[in-house]
Amino acid sequence: MNKILLVTGSNGLIGSEMVGHFHRLGWKVHGIDNNMRAQFFGPQGDTRWNQKRLLDEYPGYVHHEVDVRDREGMKTFVAKVRPTAVIHTAAQPSHDLAARRPFDDFDVNAVGTLNLLEAARRSCPESPFAFLSTNKVYGDAPNELPLVELETRWDYADPAQKDGIDETCRIDATMHSLFGASKVAADVLVQEYGRYFGMPTVCFRGGCLTGPHHSGAELHGFLAYIARAIRERRTYRIFGYKGKQVRDNIHSYDVCTAIMAFHERPVPGAVYNLGGGRANSISVLEAIHRLEELLGRKLEREYVEEARLGDHICYISDLGRLRSDFPEWEVTISLEQILSQLAEAEVPAVS
Ligand SMILES: NC(=O)c1ccc[n+]([C@@H]2O[C@H](COP(=O)([O-])OP(=O)(O)OC[C@H]3O[C@@H](n4cnc5c(N)ncnc54)[C@H](O)[C@@H]3O)[C@@H](O)[C@H]2O)c1
Repeated sequence: MNKILLVTGSNGLIGSEMVGHFHRLGWKVHGIDNNMRAQFFGPQGDTRWNQKRLLDEYPGYVHHEVDVRDREGMKTFVAKVRPTAVIHTAAQPSHDLAARRPFDDFDVNAVGTLNLLEAARRSCPESPFAFLSTNKVYGDAPNELPLVELETRWDYADPAQKDGIDETCRIDATMHSLFGASKVAADVLVQEYGRYFGMPTVCFRGGCLTGPHHSGAELHGFLAYIARAIRERRTYRIFGYKGKQVRDNIHSYDVCTAIMAFHERPVPGAVYNLGGGRANSISVLEAIHRLEELLGRKLEREYVEEARLGDHICYISDLGRLRSDFPEWEVTISLEQILSQLAEAEVPAVS
């Protein structure tokens, strides 16, 4: 049987990695992207360079200029392509932008996901459906854990918490930002199409997903944007928490292999946290320091006292559930490898 993959957000960091990964495995790959990231973030967010790269590198790959908000368009498109697997990564990914453009945020993140789920239910209900959710579905709840302040980072005070946040963390009665709220809506819908309709759906609640194909912008793409700011001599703004806020980082390649593992043994309505775990965790200050070393240049920086609303102080993904269900999966790309790749990345400079 022909294996056909549909990837939404195919020009983006995760979508583009999926295109390459499945193409190399012999799948026919269809990507959907309307370059809305450029509309969200301006020239820094423009993804056309990545679209061009995919078309140059992967013969037979087909790009489609479809908007996930277009309900009829999505229905017709999925009926025509009838994918054997769906990976949904198209999104408005920023907290701050969501507050400025709440309707666009909800229409892309929540309604776009519903459009795709319903299109899939009608035309390919047996096909595994993977959704890139986010740790922001937990809202501020992870910030309630007692923390200790170390020299360059925050950390969990309780050693029993050292592996980080697992999927039992509550998702309600906490502040999410409008972005987190639209992703919660999508996350719950994806679970429901699994539970209610029995479709093989999965939510991967991402920590910091990163890699050299990120069109890093100030409002999204933390490590990629620090590297860009050093390279292009931009002033980088640190928002609150003394720059000691911690993120766990996972390379887009390891995101692909996690999704592939699910595709091989799908179950309905699954939920997994997906990040780099403690070994790949880093604070803003630590990331700046290491990227300055790798790029051989100092970063111009500015400290803004007020933290971003909905920002996590210390977030490390507990990967226990994922590792237990898919013992063959592992994080294979270390933090140091990620940082080196970002330092060498050929993302076009923008003025
Ligand atoms: N990168 C991260 O750190 C991170 C962390 C947690 C979760 N996630 C989630 O993972 C997914 C992928 O993230 P990413 O970093 O690859 O994002 P990205 O912004 O690089 O890619 C998303 C792509 O979707 C496209 N898009 C946006 N609106 C669209 C629309 N209406 N129709 C068609 N295409 C549209 C954009 O042009 C962009 O190319 C998102 O759902 C995001 O919320 C990302």
